Amino acid sequence: MHFDNKYMNIAFNLAKKGMATSFPNPSVGCVIVECTHDFKNDKIAGFGFTQKGGRPHAEAKALEKVNFKKTKKYLCYSTLEPCSHFGRDVSCLDKIQKTPISQIIFALKDPDKRMKGSRIKKLSVDGTTIRSGILKKDLFKFYEGYFLNKIKDRPKITLKMASTLDGKITSSKKKWISNSSSRKIVHHLRSNNDAILVGSNTVKIDNPRLTCRINGLENTSPIRIVINRKLDLTEDFHIITDRSVKTILISSLNKEQIPKHLKKKNIEIINIKNKKFNLKTILKEISSFGINNLLVEGGARMAGFFLKSKFVDELIIFRNNIIVGDAELSLIKFKGNYNEEEFQLKKLMKLKNNILEIYRSQSSLIFLKKNIEKY
Ligand SMILES: NC(=O)c1ccc[n+]([C@@H]2O[C@H](COP(=O)([O-])OP(=O)(O)OC[C@H]3O[C@@H](n4cnc5c(N)ncnc54)[C@H](OP(=O)(O)O)[C@@H]3O)[C@@H](O)[C@H]2O)c1
Repeated sequence: MHFDNKYMNIAFNLAKKGMATSFPNPSVGCVIVECTHDFKNDKIAGFGFTQKGGRPHAEAKALEKVNFKKTKKYLCYSTLEPCSHFGRDVSCLDKIQKTPISQIIFALKDPDKRMKGSRIKKLSVDGTTIRSGILKKDLFKFYEGYFLNKIKDRPKITLKMASTLDGKITSSKKKWISNSSSRKIVHHLRSNNDAILVGSNTVKIDNPRLTCRINGLENTSPIRIVINRKLDLTEDFHIITDRSVKTILISSLNKEQIPKHLKKKNIEIINIKNKKFNLKTILKEISSFGINNLLVEGGARMAGFFLKSKFVDELIIFRNNIIVGDAELSLIKFKGNYNEEEFQLKKLMKLKNNILEIYRSQSSLIFLKKNIEKY
């Protein structure tokens, strides 16, 4: 159809609007198009994106605004296949079927297991046209975390670190390694991820809040996750006392050993037995919460764990112009190395006296390319 790309692009932009708040669902964009029976005079009759907390879905929101006319034709553009399983609500497919919409167009099939044998295929028998694959490549990148979660039981992982010019992550003379422009970008990054993970030493040394604190993003703080096997984080730390945001502690202790001060609202403990305490198991647990995009913010050892296990999809470094010398901690604590092909520089940006470097893992790109055809 001549206007497919135009309306899928609008649906894509709508999906981006819900990205920071749709957790635990992926953010979907939807546009209902009204036109004449010969596909002329097309215009938007309704639009929507996944709302806060994942409900209502984009299609339901878009349908709310449509005033269907008998003389017109209607098409529904969705970035992801409309759901057809029964969840908390009537499925989007059932809602669409109750309307005069005669074409359903989406970018990607939904990898959710509940969509296996989706009823959408059968709809064409009833005269509804079903088409998919519009802007597939762009949307696959956008939903990378969701696809990784559903196919590989792990989120998309972005490792973000602030470094000195000589590759250190601490600087005893300065509170912040990166400048204010860099830190603003970090708050955006946080809001676009479902969770932030740090090592327990980082909490003990820096006492970070790990929230989004710039104008407009205050309500988009992701879940905070700390690996803390012995659950020795006390009430001295913001992530324990500030319960406006959920904190998940990954521990190897039994339920009976959980200290009283951690048995509080919005503090969740994931227990993993010592023998199985590895990143694969941890990430599987994390993805079961619906976390599709995980931002790892250090420290050096945590960065090393993720790199050693080859779980880093994107690497983001904010580098300043200061040399601090050997007394400070190196960026990554990790024995081993990567070949020079693995992390390819994707973006380089000057932020006053800081440089932002974004690297993309090539093995994770290969995974994307291999899977895109199936959906
Ligand atoms: N510039 C930056 O971007 C940046 C960012 C963050 C932090 N930092 C700095 O980094 C420093 C902290 O870094 P760090 O490397 O010392 O610590 P870290 O990475 O923050 O914490 C070490 C983590 O490793 C875990 N761990 C240790 N041995 C393990 C094992 N065998 N199996 C599983 N988990 C294990 C610990 O868990 P347990 O609690 O279970 O032992 C802990 O969560 C601080 O000075 C902080 O200021 C800088």
